[in-house]
Amino acid sequence: MRILFLGDIVAASGRSAVIRCAPMLRQALKLDLLCANAENAAHGFGLTPKIAESLLESGLDILTTGNHVWDQPQIISYLEENPTAPILRPINMGASSRQLLPGRGYADLEISAGRKVRVINAIGNIFMQPCENPWYALEPLLRAGKFNATTGSDTQTAELDAIIIDFHAEATGEKLTLARLCDGRASALLGTHTHIPTADPCLLPKGLAYQSDIGMCGCYESVIGMEIETASARYLQSLPRAKLQPALGIASLAGVYFETSSATGCATRIEPFRLAASDDSLLRTSLPQECLPYKNELQGMIAATN
Ligand SMILES: [Fe+2]
Ligand SMILES: [Fe+2]
Repeated sequence: MRILFLGDIVAASGRSAVIRCAPMLRQALKLDLLCANAENAAHGFGLTPKIAESLLESGLDILTTGNHVWDQPQIISYLEENPTAPILRPINMGASSRQLLPGRGYADLEISAGRKVRVINAIGNIFMQPCENPWYALEPLLRAGKFNATTGSDTQTAELDAIIIDFHAEATGEKLTLARLCDGRASALLGTHTHIPTADPCLLPKGLAYQSDIGMCGCYESVIGMEIETASARYLQSLPRAKLQPALGIASLAGVYFETSSATGCATRIEPFRLAASDDSLLRTSLPQECLPYKNELQGMIAATN
């Protein structure tokens, strides 16, 4: 399967860039699955139902979230009323009360050619709000411990072509620890939340695609997508405490492209995905080779978003 996972979509510039580029990215990469973390899509904080629907209509298959999931209260009733909407909140939020939260932490999607993929959203424990240990929430949803890649070894996951985890967390050590635990039992574990793409996309020894953080779809002339002036004022603790505002510049897209084998459930290829409006943008463009013939057109679409 050919999968593109985009990092945190931040504010109007980020979501406009994603919406404009999604159809061409699907075509260029012949994608079976296009996912994005959308926890900052609504002016930097949370996700409204209307924005979620516009992202899904543009060609995204599923949206994940993170610590900002409840920032826009409309999403709470929306998820209660639409329990099968392809919008996830971290499965391990709220510690022991998580069963009472609206929404769901994973979804099994049926995609093209009868293939099935499980997408899971989990959140980290370190330097984050208290939550259930992510491993204990994830573990029952993964392939069995002694997974035989060619035959499958458990009924619950044997029919899945891939298991993909968005691990929304701050600490790289926690992300990599969880990835090592998931290696051989899932297809990919991708870090989100820091908004900064790391330089470590790799295949772990038992076939897990991994990147500590896949970055954001937002304006990089900023402090993680927020206006530099207000971020600086808050950091220096000037009073009154300034409210963070999304940076107004042109967004760049960041994420990761990877491929998985339906025969084994393992990842077979992983490439960084970074697309800026121009080659002198702060974020340097790096694309899978299949995207290169479309690069100028994609950059033009992003540049036209402001
Ligand atoms: Fe975020
Ligand atoms: Fe976050």
